[in-house]
Amino acid sequence: MDQDPNPERGDVAAIVLAAGKGTRFRSDVAKVLHRTAGRSLVGHVLEALRPLGLGQVIVVVGHQREDVEAEVAAVGVPGSVTVVQGEQRGTGHAVQVALPALREGIDRVVIVPGDTPLLTAATLGSLLDAAEGGVAAMLTAVLDDPTGYGRVLRDGHGAVDRIVEHRDATEDERSVGEINAGMYLVARGPLEDALSRIDDRNVQGELYVTDVVQILTGDGQRVAAVVADETHVAGVNDRWQLAAAGAVLRDRHLAHLAAEVGVTIDDPASTHVDVSVRVDRDARLLPGTILEGSTVVGERAVVGPNSHLTDTEVGPDATVHSTRADGAAIGRGASVGPFTHLRAGTRLGADTKAGAFVETKNADVADGAKVPHLAYVGDATVGAGANIACGVITVNYDGRTKSHTTIGAGAFVGCDVSLIAPVTVGADAYVAAGSVVTDDVPDGALAIARSRQITKEGWVGER
Ligand code: UD1
Ligand code: CA
Repeated sequence: MDQDPNPERGDVAAIVLAAGKGTRFRSDVAKVLHRTAGRSLVGHVLEALRPLGLGQVIVVVGHQREDVEAEVAAVGVPGSVTVVQGEQRGTGHAVQVALPALREGIDRVVIVPGDTPLLTAATLGSLLDAAEGGVAAMLTAVLDDPTGYGRVLRDGHGAVDRIVEHRDATEDERSVGEINAGMYLVARGPLEDALSRIDDRNVQGELYVTDVVQILTGDGQRVAAVVADETHVAGVNDRWQLAAAGAVLRDRHLAHLAAEVGVTIDDPASTHVDVSVRVDRDARLLPGTILEGSTVVGERAVVGPNSHLTDTEVGPDATVHSTRADGAAIGRGASVGPFTHLRAGTRLGADTKAGAFVETKNADVADGAKVPHLAYVGDATVGAGANIACGVITVNYDGRTKSHTTIGAGAFVGCDVSLIAPVTVGADAYVAAGSVVTDDVPDGALAIARSRQITKEGWVGER
């Protein structure tokens, strides 16, 4: 999606309104920071703006401004800056606050809310194209249930006349199904002029950006309207709408993976894939799979059923069954699961195995090594082709410090062995089952560290 700024749009700035609290969320966290499908609300909006290559992107922040500023910086759309709206006196006030930050050479301004995560670059592009020639354009949508949105009132010729907010509208006006999406493109001069003329005489006592429309049409200017798809412009004002938007975003991403990449998704309803996740051709996602953050699934890999991967890389041809992984890398052809927990810093090489009830953390398991069942491998290096049998524990923590275990290539660590770190098992060495290993084992050696069995013949009869 990344692309060079389009020279034809260098004169366009976006103003993103993200200063509000979001009272209807009933949250201690500013609304635009709430996340769904892998991004914050404002992050989704900024990502829709990114491919347009605008000259400037100004985000108006206020409520929890430091956190919102950090999020805007983290998203990192080129040319993005923030301005502070100290007191949230309405959407019109928010745009007023942003105007002084417009750079020289900006001739047109696109205004977008920070709470419309379904927005796409294509829909915004249609808004930019619509105003060609005129001073203003806006996006609308026709909804079965327009409750809560501003309504678009048109004149006898069908031209946009003004917008009335739901709370200010009469019964008649509320019966209008065409809503204001809150996204506008206005030439800079007329915008500055109209904003200097808005007032707060409305039910909420706020300065509404929507009043710009009526001021422009009152001056005899035409405001073009593009009727967009509802699923591209819906606003998120409460948590139920957040859930609904997340479902649309995930669906869209799954459809893209299935249709354009060539990924098999057995059960889309139970497959949650963040928009930030890449899945490659011929991979298959089985039911109950959740893929988050920067996760990547390689070609022909099979993930699921019931796997939850966060920031994890799955190599081509790997299988990951009923697994939780966070910050792990799974090599080409590796077999993981079922019931495996790969924690941060796990690196499984090619053709490795991490089987049932295995937990790993900060572990580097080289190509072909196997940890088939019931083991804890933490703060450890496991050499190529090593075999870690059932019940092996790297005893990495003495209550105060974490220590490292090194297991050499080709080593065989038998069942129920505790390796008391720091300790090294040499290449091709053997450790006998049931051993508690406290001393290094040289390459090619056999270590037996357990008490000998005592067998008392006839003991039962003599008792
Ligand atoms: C707004 C529109 C409404 C439209 C709807 C579309 C107005 C008055 N109403 O209503 O016509 O149908 O969006 O989704 O514009 N914000 C600020 N500073 C403020 C107030 C709001 O930055 O002082 C930001 C909010 O953080 C939010 C965005 O502006 O991201 C929209 O505000 P919100 O309160 O959600 O407006 P709506 O009631 O949804
Ligand atoms: Ca809103």
